[in-house]
Amino acid sequence: MVCIRKATIDDLLAMQACNLFCLPENYQMKYYFYHILSWPQLLYVAEDYGGKIVGYVLAKMEEETTECHGHITSLAVLRTHRKLGLATKLMAAAQNAMEQVFGAEYVSLHVRKSNRAAFNLYTETLGYKIHDMEAKYYADGEDAITTTTTTMVVVAALETQKLSDGGMVKVVLDICSRVSEGENVSLGFLDRFCTPIVWG
Ligand SMILES: CC(C)(COP(=O)(O)OP(=O)(O)OC[C@H]1O[C@@H](n2cnc3c(N)ncnc32)[C@H](O)[C@@H]1OP(=O)(O)O)[C@@H](O)C(=O)NCCC(=O)NCCS
Repeated sequence: MVCIRKATIDDLLAMQACNLFCLPENYQMKYYFYHILSWPQLLYVAEDYGGKIVGYVLAKMEEETTECHGHITSLAVLRTHRKLGLATKLMAAAQNAMEQVFGAEYVSLHVRKSNRAAFNLYTETLGYKIHDMEAKYYADGEDAITTTTTTMVVVAALETQKLSDGGMVKVVLDICSRVSEGENVSLGFLDRFCTPIVWG
């Protein structure tokens, strides 16, 4: 049994350890403190029955833009606990808080082009859309990066949050309007967040 809960200061070391296990993008402890002191509502952990932190999401609000939007700084789940839906739940929790607490209009994040698992999570499960490409974004000096230095910036229209917030009608209307304008909209993410929708 794994629960998703808001992170506390006491979780930061375990979050950092999980990050070190899972990702080449690592941060000093002061960066975790910066997040939890600035946006304590936006950090979540997945904790197993023994109290071990097996996943986390580290998120923030973007401050230097006119639009109010959130940003996912880091997300990871230990190998032993993957493919159980934990990342989906961590993301949903952080995204909900961004919208409800800060009024975020959308969420942005970066993902390596080569990171199939994360890319599928964002685009297939969570309904994120590709917004832009940033060449050579990752500058951590790893050799492997040279083959995958191009990253994708993915922007969510907060569709998932609206669904869990009870704003499903608006989302469905948005989707219908996009489909009628000829956009190829993936609906795969819908069944994660709601009971079946009757179309037509
Ligand atoms: C990416 C990551 C966070 C996914 O965590 P997770 O808890 O296993 O994800 P979920 O169980 O919620 O999976 C949701 C969806 O993600 C996609 N996904 C997850 N793992 C995948 C894999 N190995 N291959 C392809 N798609 C995958 C699938 O679309 C999946 O939906 P499905 O179960 O219906 O197939 C995890 O693999 C991880 O920690 N990777 C290393 C760190 C990392 O890459 N972080 C993201 C940086 S941007």
